[in-house]
Amino acid sequence: MHILVTGGAGYIGSATAALFLKAGHQVTVFDNLYRGHREAVPEGAQFVQGDISDRGALDILFQMARFDAVAHFAALIEAGESMEQPGRYFRHNVVYSQNLLDAMLAHGVKRLVFSSTAAVYASKNGPLSEDDPYRPANVYGETKLMIEQMIRWYHRQCGLKYCVLRYFNACGAMLDDQGRAIRGEAHSPETHLIPLTLQVPLGQREAINIYGTDYETADGTCVRDYIHIVDLASAHVLAVEALDERGAMTYNLGNGQGYSVRQVVETARQVTGHPLPAVETARRPGDAAVLVASAEKINHELGWQPRYPDLKTIIASAWEWHRTHPKGYDGS
Ligand SMILES: NC(=O)c1ccc[n+]([C@@H]2O[C@H](COP(=O)([O-])OP(=O)(O)OC[C@H]3O[C@@H](n4cnc5c(N)ncnc54)[C@H](O)[C@@H]3O)[C@@H](O)[C@H]2O)c1
Repeated sequence: MHILVTGGAGYIGSATAALFLKAGHQVTVFDNLYRGHREAVPEGAQFVQGDISDRGALDILFQMARFDAVAHFAALIEAGESMEQPGRYFRHNVVYSQNLLDAMLAHGVKRLVFSSTAAVYASKNGPLSEDDPYRPANVYGETKLMIEQMIRWYHRQCGLKYCVLRYFNACGAMLDDQGRAIRGEAHSPETHLIPLTLQVPLGQREAINIYGTDYETADGTCVRDYIHIVDLASAHVLAVEALDERGAMTYNLGNGQGYSVRQVVETARQVTGHPLPAVETARRPGDAAVLVASAEKINHELGWQPRYPDLKTIIASAWEWHRTHPKGYDGS
């Protein structure tokens, strides 16, 4: 298939583009480089710089090549920022995604894999399955839920085939056959726990902040399900290849195992050998207490299995990336 990857210069999109290529697909990446990196786009993928808000640019893109499917990663992704700038998030994520969907359908492209999030769910003490109640704790999660709903209507009314993938916490780095980190997390601003924690042993921050120690969890800190980007990426390959057979899919992607913020920091201490001081501060708005996936459905229906579910392995791969790329893609 020829797959258009929006946001393919970003963290998860670039790793997925690499696995699409490895699986024998042709890839075109479309990214405005607002938060992505040209260097992250895998060799072998065609790169077009542009914005999904720009219908003219999308029309040219869809005329340029005959795409069989779109994997749509392009979005603003920061929960905290979304609480401060809700309008920007609704426009950027919901309106621009609609723009993309309309362009796809106008050009006869009817296969979509969409990056959604665990943030669509209400917090739950136990693994979340796909039919658990939705109650986003932040605007970002709400925007993803709105896009999901839109996609389902486009499926019913316009014949769009889709797979919605709800990622839990994406993390880790892609390593080559020699164990060298070739693709990793380089968000700016960075708000994700593992890269922020690893900035301490790199000397880029003095301590890691722990936001909230009074949640109803075993050690009082938030619990999340950490999933390696290579495992996320491999699910996209299965999803895109199953679209014709299944037509409408929604799956969680996680390991089914929750780790608290304190446990992540402790594991990072073990991996890096650094004492990694932590500072306990107040809760942040928009953080759910516990988000852990049940990924039984995708396991059962598509045969997806995570290869790197162990937190220490995940953090070790992330450390390999950050240690060797302390400035991310902008020169090391
Ligand atoms: N990182 C996570 O833990 C996580 C968890 C759940 C869901 N997701 C979803 O996965 C997707 C990818 O996340 P990521 O961590 O790789 O983020 P990222 O910021 O690294 O990648 C997003 C990419 O999209 C591009 N982009 C943004 N707006 C665009 C636009 N209007 N037009 C063209 N390109 C645009 C950015 O330049 C960037 O390269 C997002 O949709 C995000 O909501 C991420």
